[in-house]
Amino acid sequence: MRQIEVDLNAIRSNYAALRAAFAPAKVMAVVKANAYGHGMIEVARALDGNVDALGVADPSEALALRDAGIKARVMAWIIGPEDDLQAAVANNIELGVSTFDQLDRLPPAAQFHIKIDTGLGRNGFSRLEFDQLFTRLQGTNPVGIFSHLSNTSVSDDLKQKRIFEDAISMASSKGIEFRERHLAASAGALSYEDLRYDMVRCGIAVYGLNPYEDRELAGIELQPAMRVLSQLVNVKRVPAGQGVSYGYRYVTERETNLGLVPFGYAEGMPRISVNHEVLIAGKLYPVVGRVAMDQFVVDLGSSEPAIGTEVVIFGNPQEGEPSAEALGESAGTINYEIVTRIGGRANRSYLGR
Ligand SMILES: Cc1ncc(COP(=O)(O)O)c(C=O)c1O
Repeated sequence: MRQIEVDLNAIRSNYAALRAAFAPAKVMAVVKANAYGHGMIEVARALDGNVDALGVADPSEALALRDAGIKARVMAWIIGPEDDLQAAVANNIELGVSTFDQLDRLPPAAQFHIKIDTGLGRNGFSRLEFDQLFTRLQGTNPVGIFSHLSNTSVSDDLKQKRIFEDAISMASSKGIEFRERHLAASAGALSYEDLRYDMVRCGIAVYGLNPYEDRELAGIELQPAMRVLSQLVNVKRVPAGQGVSYGYRYVTERETNLGLVPFGYAEGMPRISVNHEVLIAGKLYPVVGRVAMDQFVVDLGSSEPAIGTEVVIFGNPQEGEPSAEALGESAGTINYEIVTRIGGRANRSYLGR
């Protein structure tokens, strides 16, 4: 009744396209948060053996990858006070270190990357700490240094670049060299050749989705890997003036057919989505009225598709299907949030396993 179809071949070919576009920089494929809803273990298995590195937020996600037999390099960059860093190191997991406390907790054999805050204001050492940090790092052997862009504007991105490079020079003047410098995620890597350094960390682009909110993705062939499908479970004729769903946000203007799709906010269909169009038997129809926990309603007009007809909620716009971006826009959010939250009672199935 509810299907999330993930095309692992699309993920492999997106990764290959990104690697070709960004060479000689390495490409870390970011698989945190269940691979943005695509299934972390399945995606990691699809890439394992042919990926420069995998990136996750939590050490527990990295351990889950190792438990599943993934051999690739794995890096985790959000360390909590309870995380067992010994277990991470024993499992050959590289750690992104953001505080002095984390540095103090690192086991001697740890492979670590220093995270610096070049302007995003989230994790990483503050600029006010750089001097103390690089003094503290003397005599240690970090793998890399990294930071993350705010994607606010070109001038903000370039300011972050300057701060990143100044920090690297400052470290160098204290005798600390980093083998791997990485700053850009999908948007930064696609936008600026000189921000790719030794590695880029790509999440959304690996899944074939556009990292930009305000412009089309150009110059690279990527294919959305996720299709989300349901089916019609009720089709009925209603009179003009029929209120639809809680709060009657939609009232029919004329006699029409309404279709019921059993895919609700429990599955990650945003409750506030309005006027998203879904594809039914080759035609687009608007979602009308409030999305409920288990279901939403489509105004079919004069069409009368049979019960059981497939409904494409989003998929590949190159095939005429609605996009994850469009669903995001209908709910005031972005494709990242749409794919990451999709799930609930829907089954994931994999092509190209
Ligand atoms: C530190 C870091 N690097 C890379 C990424 C991947 O970003 P994107 O999905 O925009 O490529 C993320 C995702 O949020 C991140 O937090």
